[in-house]
Amino acid sequence: MFTISERNFFSRRCVWVNGPVIVGAGPSGLAVGACLREQGVPFVILERADCIASLWQKRTYDRLKLHLPKKFCQLPKFPFPNHYPEYPTKRQFIDYLESYANHFDIKPQFNETVESAKYDEACKVWRIKTVSPIGCEVEYICQWLVVATGENAERVVPDIEGLKHFGGEVIHACDYKSGEKYQGKKVVVIGCGNSGMEVSLDLSNHNAQPSMVCRSSVHVLPREIFGKSTFELAMFMMSWLPLWLVDKILLIIAWFILGNIENYGLKRPSIGPLTLKNTQGKTPVLDIGALEKIRSGKIKVIPGIKRFSCGTIELVNGEKLEVDSVVLATGYCSNVPFWLQESEFFSKNGFPKAQNNWKGKSGLYAVGFTRKGLAGASADATKIAQDIAKVYKDDLKQKKQKVSTHRRCISTF
Ligand SMILES: Cc1cc2nc3c(=O)[nH]c(=O)nc-3n(C[C@H](O)[C@H](O)[C@H](O)COP(=O)(O)OP(=O)(O)OC[C@H]3O[C@@H](n4cnc5c(N)ncnc54)[C@H](O)[C@@H]3O)c2cc1C
Ligand SMILES: NC(=O)c1ccc[n+]([C@@H]2O[C@H](COP(=O)([O-])OP(=O)(O)OC[C@H]3O[C@@H](n4cnc5c(N)ncnc54)[C@H](OP(=O)(O)O)[C@@H]3O)[C@@H](O)[C@H]2O)c1
Repeated sequence: MFTISERNFFSRRCVWVNGPVIVGAGPSGLAVGACLREQGVPFVILERADCIASLWQKRTYDRLKLHLPKKFCQLPKFPFPNHYPEYPTKRQFIDYLESYANHFDIKPQFNETVESAKYDEACKVWRIKTVSPIGCEVEYICQWLVVATGENAERVVPDIEGLKHFGGEVIHACDYKSGEKYQGKKVVVIGCGNSGMEVSLDLSNHNAQPSMVCRSSVHVLPREIFGKSTFELAMFMMSWLPLWLVDKILLIIAWFILGNIENYGLKRPSIGPLTLKNTQGKTPVLDIGALEKIRSGKIKVIPGIKRFSCGTIELVNGEKLEVDSVVLATGYCSNVPFWLQESEFFSKNGFPKAQNNWKGKSGLYAVGFTRKGLAGASADATKIAQDIAKVYKDDLKQKKQKVSTHRRCISTF
C-alpha cells in the first residue's frame, strides 16, 4: 500500500508534447488530428470519455440520423463510403469516425478530463492539467492548444420551480435512448428544437402520449424541398442572393409544404431562420415527421411551464397536466469557461468572441465553434493544421540548421 505522499509522487506526471495538444476526440478533434498527420506534425488528443465521439456514442438517442446530406458531414480527406445513404444513421456515422481514426492512426488518450489550461507567459508554453477517473493527474506542456470540446459539451438543465418535488422520472435528452419503455405513458418533452421534436416523434411512434413545451418560438423547415435537401438549396441560394431574401423564399416554401405552423400552437420567430442562426446561433428544426404528428394531435404542443408539483405540471396559461415522465430537451452548452484560463479569445459563454474565429494568440485555436455543424468543423480543422504545420516546419528547419552549423564548428575545431 502507498502512503499518501508516495501516491502523489506516482500519480502526478509531467509530459512535454512536441506538437499541439488537442482537447476533445469528437469529429472536430479527429479532423484536426487527421490534417496534422498529413502534414507530419505530431500531436496528442486528450479525451474525457473512454471512446472517440462520445456525444454520438453515449449521449444520443437510437433513432438519430444526420439531418444534413452526407456530403456536408464528412471530415477532411476521407469521404463516407459510397454505399452510405444520403442521411447516414448514428451507427453509420460512428463506424465512419472509427474508420477515420484508424485510417489516420489517431490514438487519443482516453479517460483524461482537462481540468485547466493556462498559458505560461514566462516559459511561452501551454500548461494543461488532466485528471483521470481514478484520480491520476498529468500535466501536458506544449506550444499549441487546440480546443475541440464542442458546442454541446454539457447538458443545460433549467431551474424550474418545483422540479425537485415532481417525483416522476426526469431525464435530459442526452440520456434518452428510445420511446419503448414509455408506451402508454404521459411524457412532457421540454423544448422544441431538433432534439425536442425528434424525441416527441419517437415517443409517439412508441405509443406514448407526448406533450411538447414550446415556450417561445421556433422555425420549422422541411428537411427536403422537392426531393432536394433544404440545407443544400439554402447554401445554393446564399451564393447568389442576400440572406434576408433567402430567408423569405425558405419561409414561403415551408408555408406551402408544411402549412401555417401557428395553427398548431407553434410560433414562428420574427427573424428569418438563417439570420437567426447567424445572429443568435438558434438552429431551425428540420422536420422529419413530427409536424404531421402535431397536426394529427398525436403530439400535443403546450406553452411554457410555470411550476412542477408531485406528478403534475402547471402551465403558464394556468392549465394543469398529470404527467408520468419528463424529458428535458433543453439543449447544451460549451464547457470551455470551466477549464480554459483565458478571456481574450473566448467569451463567457464558451464560444470565441468574434464569429467564425478559429485562431487566438499564443498558439491557441478553436475548432467546431462556428455554429456550422460538421462542415464548419472540417473547414476550421484544415486551416488550423496548415497554420500549425507552417510554424512547426519552420522551427524544425531552424533547429536542423543550428545542428548542422554546430557540427561544422565541431569538425572545423
Ligand atoms: C443530438 C445531436 C445531433 C446532431 N446532429 C448533427 C448533424 O446531423 N449534423 C451536424 O453537422 N451536426 C450535428 N450535431 C451537432 C454536433 O454536436 C456536431 O456536429 C459534432 O458532434 C461536433 O463535433 P465536436 O467534435 O466539435 O464536438 P463533440 O462531438 O461534442 O466532441 C467533443 C469531445 O470533447 C470531449 N470533451 C469535452 N470536454 C472535455 C474536457 N474537459 N476534457 C477532455 N475531453 C473533453 C467530449 O467528451 C467529446 O468527446 C448534433 C448534435 C446533437 C446533440
Ligand atoms: N437529427 C439531428 O441532426 C439533430 C437532432 C437533435 C439535435 N441536433 C442538433 O443539436 C443541437 C442542439 O439541439 P437541441 O434541440 O438539443 O437544443 P436547442 O436547439 O438549443 O433547443 C433547446 C430548446 O429547449 C428550450 N428550452 C430551454 N430552456 C427551457 C425552459 N426552461 N423551458 C422551456 N423550454 C426551454 C428552448 O426554448 P427557447 O428557444 O425558448 O430558449 C429550445 O426550444 C442543435 O445544433 C441541433 O441542430 C441535431
